[in-house]
Amino acid sequence: MAVKTIEWRGDRVFMIDQRLLPGREVVRRYDDYRGVAEAIRTMVIRGAPAIGVAAAMGVALGFRDFAGGRAEARFDRIAKTLRATRPTAVNLAWALERMERTLRENLALDGARLFRRLRAEALAIYAEDLAVNRALGKFGAELLDAEATVLTHCNAGALATAGYGTALGVVRAAREAGKRIAVYADETRPFLQGARLTAWELRKDRIPVTVIADNMAGTVLRSGRVSCVIVGTDRTAANGDVANKIGTYPLAVMARRHDVPFYVAAPLSSIDLACASGELIPIEERAPKEIVEFAGKMVAPKGVGVFNPAFDVTPAELVTAIITERGVARPPYAESLARLKRGE
Ligand code: MRU
Repeated sequence: MAVKTIEWRGDRVFMIDQRLLPGREVVRRYDDYRGVAEAIRTMVIRGAPAIGVAAAMGVALGFRDFAGGRAEARFDRIAKTLRATRPTAVNLAWALERMERTLRENLALDGARLFRRLRAEALAIYAEDLAVNRALGKFGAELLDAEATVLTHCNAGALATAGYGTALGVVRAAREAGKRIAVYADETRPFLQGARLTAWELRKDRIPVTVIADNMAGTVLRSGRVSCVIVGTDRTAANGDVANKIGTYPLAVMARRHDVPFYVAAPLSSIDLACASGELIPIEERAPKEIVEFAGKMVAPKGVGVFNPAFDVTPAELVTAIITERGVARPPYAESLARLKRGE
């Protein structure tokens, strides 16, 4: 995809404002970590790996004017602000831990050198994410027949990562391998990542995409038109329970009901072995207005109760396989995921 999700240029960070897509392509500039934190919180940028990259760049920005002194205290302040933005995507904590390690290993450097080292680490996280998606995509593509239709939920594409995508990376890799792949995209209420973002980036790449409302997925699965479901993940627990965009769990239940394989595209940075099972994954709840307003207009009576969890957890037993950059994990996941994490 030609448009960049996030970019470090001239010691500033640039992001396409995903809230305005597909209507307008507006690129915003960020000069400090507070702005980056606000961009993550308000979903200018979203998607677990992209949030991780943004947080790493945010830390680097926070050291741009560092003249020496209490580097660790400065880091703690920056990390606290960034960590508070969105709780479910473990890539955020993962990227901050990596930046913290880099900081601690380089405390002897003077201010300007320390900034350059942190900048290099943030750019490495960005570049590695691209490479990870390509590797993961290749493994995933092998699971698809020469002609296949993929149903996906939310946006686990170029816009959710440094580029290329995880679930949509599998689609892209399969097409690069000469396979004929079409996509059904759930619109993904309430933020419409499927209708707005997945459809937008697939159209840009001329990949056939059909948008459906979330409540149509059962009918589409039952029709036999779908070869497999592929989704991304914000955090996958050690036992293979998968946290992803709200609506993923019912999709997995319906896929099982209709014997359709349910795949999760998960870079190892989103697999959290410290989290034993899905019950321990913190689930973000977002503002009621995302539910009761649509395109700025009230669609429910004022004062009505609202429940708006942004993610759900799909139990491992409903997951056919988890696709990572080091290969495809199959059940039992406690063993296969640990092995892949260790690099075996
Ligand atoms: O709330 P969002 O848009 O950040 O949620 C994104 C998702 O649920 C994605 O599927 C997940 O982050 C994986 S992105 C490769």
